[in-house]
Amino acid sequence: MARLIRSGLAGLMTTHRFLVTGGTGKSGSHVVSRLRAQGAPVRVASRTGESAFDWHDRATWDTALDGVKAVYLVPLDGHLLTRPFVERAVKLGVERLVLLSGRGVDVPGYSGEANSAGATHVDGESAVRASGIDWTILRPAWFAQNFSEGIFRDAVLAGELRLPAGNGAASFVDAVDIAAVAVAALTEDGHQGETYELSGPRALTIAEAVAEIAEATGRSVRYVPLSPGRFVSELTEQGWPVVEAEDYAEAVSPIRRGMDAHLSDGVWRALGRQPRDFTDFVRAAARTWRD
Ligand SMILES: NC(=O)c1ccc[n+]([C@@H]2O[C@H](COP(=O)([O-])OP(=O)(O)OC[C@H]3O[C@@H](n4cnc5c(N)ncnc54)[C@H](OP(=O)(O)O)[C@@H]3O)[C@@H](O)[C@H]2O)c1
Repeated sequence: MARLIRSGLAGLMTTHRFLVTGGTGKSGSHVVSRLRAQGAPVRVASRTGESAFDWHDRATWDTALDGVKAVYLVPLDGHLLTRPFVERAVKLGVERLVLLSGRGVDVPGYSGEANSAGATHVDGESAVRASGIDWTILRPAWFAQNFSEGIFRDAVLAGELRLPAGNGAASFVDAVDIAAVAVAALTEDGHQGETYELSGPRALTIAEAVAEIAEATGRSVRYVPLSPGRFVSELTEQGWPVVEAEDYAEAVSPIRRGMDAHLSDGVWRALGRQPRDFTDFVRAAARTWRD
């Protein structure tokens, strides 16, 4: 709470001074628990959250934003809804925005608007920068939590992760660190106007990442590199729409093309400490692969 008071926003306490969209997700859930640990009033907004909020139903936006002063904004990939949401938030009195964006948004040839998440983030960043209120943008690398609760989880449990990532490496970032930076930006001064590129402290190939999980859990897990074409056909054979399969392949392609291995200094710049290592994430998440 001391940091809230230092921020100068403490006098504006309302029932739900903070709103976390995607508050049930990989980074949002940690933002919620960190804010609550500081005693801050938080509204968790998502389709299954405490406050029913659906990006596709604008009638739910005002209820979510009611009385809110600061928002952790997890966008909906594939839709250009961040801009109208930001405009509505400003109109209803929000004073601070922390946007979850993505790595490579401004890097030619990374992915950018070629991928549904990229297009959402390019437009979302521009809306946040133009909002006229305090803002901070987070650009994380691939989340470590994709292996434990995200898109790679089922494959890890099945023992074989098949991806078009070649032998490329990614500097996976722990969602716990993303949340720590988000909470600092929401509650402290000094982060306004910053764009934080967030990664872990080292890059791992997919094979190295699953080997760490295998070792920590005793499971047999292996990585099988696929060509993008083979990957798309396998997913479509499993019933994925072609557009979504191609979008997933495009999202992974920077890893294969060596564009995801670099380290970023955002955790250090925002928090003055090193990011958590992938091994620490695996140790903390090990029980989630045993259930
Ligand atoms: N995962 C990564 O490696 C990674 C890396 C860089 C950037 N990002 C960015 O991070 C953002 C979050 O992606 P994620 O995969 O990590 O997902 P996530 O935050 O773990 O989960 C998505 C969240 O959004 C909510 N949600 C989904 N559809 C919704 C809807 N129609 N209305 C309201 N809420 C909805 C979900 O809750 P309910 O199901 O309860 O609605 C959940 O809380 C994306 O913009 C992505 O591009 C992700």
